[in-house]
Amino acid sequence: MYTKDPAFWRAGAISATLVMLVILGFLSANSLAVITAGGGGHVPPYTVINHQISYQYDPEKDQDMPVIGGEQLLFGKRYDAAQASALIGQGKLVIQSRACIDCHTFLGNGAYYAPDLTKSWLDPAWKAQWMPMTQSKTKEEAMVKFLMHPERYPTWSREMPNLQLSQSSAEAVVAYLKWLSSINTNGFPANFNNASQQQ
Ligand code: HEC
Repeated sequence: MYTKDPAFWRAGAISATLVMLVILGFLSANSLAVITAGGGGHVPPYTVINHQISYQYDPEKDQDMPVIGGEQLLFGKRYDAAQASALIGQGKLVIQSRACIDCHTFLGNGAYYAPDLTKSWLDPAWKAQWMPMTQSKTKEEAMVKFLMHPERYPTWSREMPNLQLSQSSAEAVVAYLKWLSSINTNGFPANFNNASQQQ
């Protein structure tokens, strides 16, 4: 059936637009839930920093998946939802203010001069190299010492400059990096240090 009646085509265009608007609204709400911290999707709530986070190979997906374990406090403190959100927010501001992405990548965004930091918290080098080098009892202590004085603890062909981070700024960055590592990134970055095999 073909008609030249403009009313027919107008009604068709309007109804198709309305249907697509409803679908767009549904997809937007769904995507937001998947990428919001604690939204039940790929991004755990900020209080995940009170837990152990590990990386395990999932043969079905053929990729490493973050696994949230039992309680493992950060800096010996238990952060409630508001405190965890504030601390990680501060970490994000420190990272933005120092333009860490001039050298590093986060979730693949940034420069490729230095290692991707998405899974840095899970890097076996903290235990194997930086904890002994900095004489630290915990990984977070080693990370804070490294972040405050990277020039003292080089492990790589390129060195990270000292960015004059205060103790509290470095701690906030560590909280941010711990939370970041818990995000299910569908296995990105690929073959990250083979962390799951080494642990
Ligand atoms: C001028 C370039 C540069 C900037 C800017 C920079 N970094 Fe680095 N960073 C490096 C290099 C190079 C390394 C590797 C150093 C090493 O292993 O000795 C590194 C290593 C690291 C590591 C250890 C990564 C791992 O798991 O192996 C962390 C964490 C880190 N940087 C965090 C930061 C943060 C946070 C900022 C911003 C506050 C920052 N970096 C800014 C160059 C930079």
